[in-house]
Amino acid sequence: MDLSVKFMGQMFSNPLLPASGPIVGTLENLKFFENSKVGGIVTKTISVEAAIVKKPCIAGNNKMIFNSELWSEYHSSKWINEILPEISACKTKPMIVSVGYKCEDFETLIPQVDQYADMFEVSTHYTKSSLSDIVKSIRKHTEKPIFMKLSPHVTDYLHFVETVVAAGANGVVAINSLGPATVVDLKNRKILLGTDTGDVWMSGPCIKPVALNRIVNIKKAFPHVPVIAAGGVESAEDVLEFILAGADLVQMLSAALIKGRKLYDKIVDDMPKVLKKYKFESIEDLRESRTILLEDLDNRNVAERIPRIVFPLVDHDLCNRCGLCTEVCPEMALKIDGRVVVDKSVCQRCGLCQTRCPKEAISGVFE
Ligand SMILES: Cc1cc2nc3c(=O)[nH]c(=O)nc-3n(C[C@H](O)[C@H](O)[C@H](O)COP(=O)(O)O)c2cc1C
Repeated sequence: MDLSVKFMGQMFSNPLLPASGPIVGTLENLKFFENSKVGGIVTKTISVEAAIVKKPCIAGNNKMIFNSELWSEYHSSKWINEILPEISACKTKPMIVSVGYKCEDFETLIPQVDQYADMFEVSTHYTKSSLSDIVKSIRKHTEKPIFMKLSPHVTDYLHFVETVVAAGANGVVAINSLGPATVVDLKNRKILLGTDTGDVWMSGPCIKPVALNRIVNIKKAFPHVPVIAAGGVESAEDVLEFILAGADLVQMLSAALIKGRKLYDKIVDDMPKVLKKYKFESIEDLRESRTILLEDLDNRNVAERIPRIVFPLVDHDLCNRCGLCTEVCPEMALKIDGRVVVDKSVCQRCGLCQTRCPKEAISGVFE
């Protein structure tokens, strides 16, 4: 199945890319991605000066990563004189160069890295200057596509998109990691990691719904603005959800920090199977189905909806009577009486049991 994506004049063999972070911060790392199955390469954020990062700076569990990294700990001269020329000499895939942060940085940085970049991605995570000025200071020195990266703590994100596009950016990357957050170390009675104020940023599967929210709403408000998604991807299903939500390309970092970098190839290998499973003939077919999702979004005005009175329906052949639905039901409407029974006089049709059943034995509440 053809997974290729033509985007901003570049051919990506498939929509999955690494997201900016430690996994793309050295020449060896970038070569790994050149040799892996991902559709393109992204660099760690490069700024003029090397970042000075308080260590330790990354922790994780099965669901999330916490980090207090900044941008690259290499001075820009190492990127300009060694890493970018070497990866450019051997790469066969499009490369997005991530840069930050201040207008003065871009005046010297962009002219020196422009020849190596197929596109630019601009981190705004620590930006204090005006977004318009930042875009303009980069645009002065390049004709390459510029994608401004949205951080989820920016509440007026539609204004963010409007501002950067009006200033000359081509699109946005959404989202950076979520926070600030705090991690308490109960054993040692300390804050586990973070900045001087104990701040960290969260990423990985737990932030996927926040990222999807930004993509869906940005694409609804600005259908023609190209969007690269990042945030919580850990499977081929996730990549396809982001494309259905409106993303052109999809990045992943934290799930590979949780499970290992082999995950990139696995996701690319899984993509055709998962497309088939959900009856999409191609990535293009998936993209075209966005109209259905947008129609659903438009029809969600509850007052205008014809109420569906549908109670949970239990398939007793699939049900193994584990009892989870009876435990989680907020109304205590489900009971095991030989088999699972639903008390319709108590059930509020909230839907939780259907989403939590490990055997997918409950249907009806969600269509
Ligand atoms: C350890 C770590 C370092 C990161 N460094 C950068 C960075 O230098 N520049 C940047 O734009 N985003 C950075 N990010 C954010 C990621 O690129 C990504 O936007 C975010 O983690 C959400 O995607 P994920 O859930 O797949 O990780 C970093 C994230 C982590 C976990």
